[in-house]
Amino acid sequence: MKPIKTNTLISDFDGIARAAILLSSHALVAFPTETVYGLGADARDDTAVARVFQAKGRPQFNPLIVHVADLAAAERIAIFPDQAMRLAQTFWPGPLTLVLPLRDDAGISPLVTAGMNTVAVRVPEHPLAQELLRKFDGPVAAPSANPSGKISPTTAAHVLDGLSGQIEAVLDGGPCPVGIESTIIGVTEHPARLLRPGGLPVEAIEACLGYPLALPDTGGAITAPGQLKSHYAPDAKLRLNADHPRGDEVWLGFGPDAKEAALNLSVTGDLVEAAANLFHHLRAVDALATAGQGIAVSPVPDHGLGRAINDRLSRAAAPRP
Ligand code: TXA
Ligand code: MG
Repeated sequence: MKPIKTNTLISDFDGIARAAILLSSHALVAFPTETVYGLGADARDDTAVARVFQAKGRPQFNPLIVHVADLAAAERIAIFPDQAMRLAQTFWPGPLTLVLPLRDDAGISPLVTAGMNTVAVRVPEHPLAQELLRKFDGPVAAPSANPSGKISPTTAAHVLDGLSGQIEAVLDGGPCPVGIESTIIGVTEHPARLLRPGGLPVEAIEACLGYPLALPDTGGAITAPGQLKSHYAPDAKLRLNADHPRGDEVWLGFGPDAKEAALNLSVTGDLVEAAANLFHHLRAVDALATAGQGIAVSPVPDHGLGRAINDRLSRAAAPRP
């Protein structure tokens, strides 16, 4: 993609207002939180969220954390079991992310949740993050604002080092006080589970809950939707790299050669558009497929966002347990 100009916004009234307007107009804005800088996009905007993955060069659609200004806003997105409510009331705003059941009417892009029925939510404490979220008045999906595989940024200069030319703006709030990412707790089952250690000590969380946390299944942070139990896979069988459908298949196309397809990820072959459509279209073709029918998926080029799309498609096509 052609590089764009990345503006550095000063953290005064005008800078924050500008950042909020950019978020409302589908742009990507990096902003400070108390942990690290986040790469923000409107969490309801499929295309903006697809661009986050493109800017980071992420080869997989890892689910993203949704940032909101307060608990009331979080309750519009996720369902809070009792223990989650206790954690939220004790530690928010702060460096704690809760993975919770997603509300049906949350309106969050399925790219944010990697098509799952859970969502990671956090209320950051940083005053600039707070002001930005209140002014924007909506949910902001934000991974750490660094290229995939690189170190998380704790200054605006770090953000520019990695993402200059890929994002519209960075809101400069100086160094982040905590400097490591939030602690992530899964509260979709009992006992609550530590998914990633981070800025809020585990001991404080266990003291609040009154019992020891379950440890990660994987021995480390859950980084890919494929490692998660509840990731979305269609009911119909997927056949990948299919130039044409067979008689017993619904065709999910990509590019101008797939004009006859039931649905096309992007008729023009645009990978950002294809990523934005991926989870919606997978669900839609799955619904179209009648019993016994499969889904044929056109080849998707394996570069840029195409790698993440192919990663997700191959997981969806993998044999089910
Ligand atoms: O401090 C932080 O958490 C920073 C700031 C910007 O808020 N954000 C951050 O995001 O570290 P990121 O994308 O680098 O890490 C998010 C982690 C990933 O490991 C992802 O797999 C996990 O959150 N995650 C997100 N949604 C999830 C879900 N529904 N279930 C399990 N894990 C999830
Ligand atoms: Mg990260």
